[in-house]
Amino acid sequence: MNRKHEQDRFAGEEYELFKLACPHYDEFQTMIAQQITERFQNKNIKIVEIGCAEGYTTRKILEMNPKSTVYAIDNDKARTALARQMLRRYHGRVHVEQIDALEGIKALTSGSIDAFATGFTIHNFPETYRRQILSESYRILTPGGIFVNGDKYARADSAEHQADLEWQMEQFNIFEQINRPDLKELWTAHNLEDDNIAMKEDESKETMRIIGFKNIRTVYRNHMEAVITAEK
Ligand SMILES: C[S@@+](CC[C@H](N)C(=O)[O-])C[C@H]1O[C@@H](n2cnc3c(N)ncnc32)[C@H](O)[C@@H]1O
Repeated sequence: MNRKHEQDRFAGEEYELFKLACPHYDEFQTMIAQQITERFQNKNIKIVEIGCAEGYTTRKILEMNPKSTVYAIDNDKARTALARQMLRRYHGRVHVEQIDALEGIKALTSGSIDAFATGFTIHNFPETYRRQILSESYRILTPGGIFVNGDKYARADSAEHQADLEWQMEQFNIFEQINRPDLKELWTAHNLEDDNIAMKEDESKETMRIIGFKNIRTVYRNHMEAVITAEK
């Protein structure tokens, strides 16, 4: 993954500060976990999550789905170590592994997972790798299992997308107010770079449809952040 170095700048405290520029961050994470809650109504289910980082999305999933078990994957050593610490109260229900996402899910048996979930991760991937992740996530799901991705999805209408991007850029002004102009510069550059490989909502849904996913829906959107769900 050639964007790994770039992502390394946004860990720990700096990622915490990112939440200041994303006022709906918590609502967005809740929406990811809630899709699983609504579908499975507190059943004993198996969930796979990729790009868990320190465990923000993971914690919501575990909290809101108290009988579930989660296999959480991230390829970053420091973040998986922090996730194990942050999620220690869920001992026995979560297994955090430092491994490449595609490699991790390729090793899983077909039709063995009830829900595949991820947050703010797939948009970072190159197109071919994204497609492989979508395809493998479909393979591992049980029939009726669900896919949930909360992520930056570019709207099809380019004027709307541009407005979302400009809104996001404006949010980074908060870093000047807290005397961190360096973060404004870094996040602005990161977002412009993201935009070069923007994950388009309509194209992504079409790829999923071709793979075989059914009932593909955008269940939440706040500016660029959207939660997309689908069923096998
Ligand atoms: C922005 S964080 C997402 C954290 C959390 N899910 C959230 O929504 O706030 C994305 C994570 O994906 C991880 N990642 C990037 N490429 C990966 C890969 N190829 N395999 C596994 N994890 C990867 C990064 O290390 C990072 O921790």
